[in-house]
Amino acid sequence: MNNDRGKVISISAVKGGVGKTTLTLNLAGIYYLMGKKVLIIDLDLYAGGVATCLNLNTKRDIYTLVDNISRNEFTTLKDYVTTYNDGIDVLPAPKDPRNAFKVESKYITKILDLAKLDYEIILVDMNHILDEINLETLDNSYNSAYVITNDLVDLKNMRSLISIFSEIEKTNYKIVLNNSRDTGKDYISLFDIRKIIEANVDYTISSSFYIKNIDKYVLNGDILTLNKTINRFYSKDIKNLKKLALSLIEEGDDN
Ligand SMILES: Nc1ncnc2c1ncn2[C@@H]1O[C@H](COP(=O)(O)OP(=O)(O)OP(=O)(O)O)[C@@H](O)[C@H]1O
Ligand SMILES: [Mg+2]
Repeated sequence: MNNDRGKVISISAVKGGVGKTTLTLNLAGIYYLMGKKVLIIDLDLYAGGVATCLNLNTKRDIYTLVDNISRNEFTTLKDYVTTYNDGIDVLPAPKDPRNAFKVESKYITKILDLAKLDYEIILVDMNHILDEINLETLDNSYNSAYVITNDLVDLKNMRSLISIFSEIEKTNYKIVLNNSRDTGKDYISLFDIRKIIEANVDYTISSSFYIKNIDKYVLNGDILTLNKTINRFYSKDIKNLKKLALSLIEEGDDN
């Protein structure tokens, strides 16, 4: 019997800068509050920002891990992750971006399988490129959150991806419309967004969650959903994020 218990939840998009990393960190905070043991894997290999956003001093990263696996020097996953708090660990993107291309797709399943043995939730922050690494990650995901914005190009590209998903009968993903990143950018109505992407929007992060001084929290290495002030002022938005977090790990669907 295989004793893995972790669920891989990947956070992706069809465009950069839409709020993937912010959502990944916010979800990590929510799962932590649910008492889950969480690993965040930064698979934005060339420009990962998870360790920076969390103010982590990292020694090892995903490149060290694959390098050691390839040399048969792998010990245990714990030796490669950096601890954020008592329930959240991080496997950072390569510190030196020149090593990013060495993290080949053939290692992804192995890394995720190892993570599933030690963690209940594995959040993978991806970039928006549909390459082998990301395809392998999607294949190994229990569920994925696709972040879109109120932007025509973004929506058109999402439609293309949704039609690929339907061709391959992939249904384990949620569409998350992020209105909190660009307040005031709401030219396209929700009705039209659905028409453009030819699919439903599963969750909306409201423009009320726009946090003007977000950089202050980033500089402190804070996770917004774990911050008391944010919880007090944005309680409705946090409640909504909790719903998304729950739906991503829901049993049943087709997983
Ligand atoms: N709720 C919010 N309020 C204010 N600013 C936000 C909010 N969410 C995200 N941002 C800002 O938007 C920018 C992009 O967010 P983020 O880095 O999460 O996106 P991304 O999709 O991971 O980007 P990339 O493709 O570069 O990895 C960041 O500067 C972030 O601080
Ligand atoms: Mg990012």
